[in-house]
Amino acid sequence: MIAFYSVKLGGLNVYGESCVTKMVKSRITPTIFFLGAIVLAVVAFWLEPHQKAVVNGISFPTDFQTQLIKYAVVERPDGLIRDEFASQDVIDAARDGKPIPVGSMLVIQAFYGSSLGRLGQQNVHVMVKQNSSDNAWAFAAFNPDGSVEPNMDLSVCKQCHSSAVIGRDSIFSFALLQNFITTGKPGFAYCSFPARIPCTSDADFSRGR
Ligand code: HEC
Repeated sequence: MIAFYSVKLGGLNVYGESCVTKMVKSRITPTIFFLGAIVLAVVAFWLEPHQKAVVNGISFPTDFQTQLIKYAVVERPDGLIRDEFASQDVIDAARDGKPIPVGSMLVIQAFYGSSLGRLGQQNVHVMVKQNSSDNAWAFAAFNPDGSVEPNMDLSVCKQCHSSAVIGRDSIFSFALLQNFITTGKPGFAYCSFPARIPCTSDADFSRGR
């Protein structure tokens, strides 16, 4: 309720809100804005990691660990170990010697640590077959919570993968895929180069698990 008063000041009628009401209002308004801003910030913060990020037409494959098939584990000397997953149609095509169908998906999930123990997740990289020509893949990079991995130049993914001469159709780990088809178990490979440097020989299965 706004209280109004009317006073006579030297013949001048002054109409207005009471001092108290003005004071209360002047404090309430910024407080409401301030609280509103906090609520908005909290909602934005909560929404952000839950938002379905889409990169190159690829959204984060939330259930990839259960929906896709884990066919390999690759350890490297730089403190990273990666699980590799493929959709069933990749496995079927590799088994039957057929081209990888459009829509097929491969995922590589990186963890800090080694085969002795995993200390935390680093990122999740995804590739999805776009059309039937060779090396026609879209690439996407996500954080473990599904948000987009920042500062990633995705053209580099394509560049490196299309040179996957030891693999097939941009798939570096094709030998591991075939190993999975033969044994029914995810193969293990130790690549002695750090980062994303491709191992030049086929997977080294000497330290299988
Ligand atoms: C410099 C080369 C290089 C770059 C750049 C690179 N990768 Fe790879 N990627 C590899 C190698 C080599 C493997 C095989 C696994 C291993 O050795 O760790 C691999 C494996 C994969 C796999 C599993 C299927 C396969 O080919 O074996 C996916 C999916 C993948 N990478 C996605 C990406 C995405 C997305 C990016 C960009 C954000 C990317 N890669 C950048 C070299 C690269």
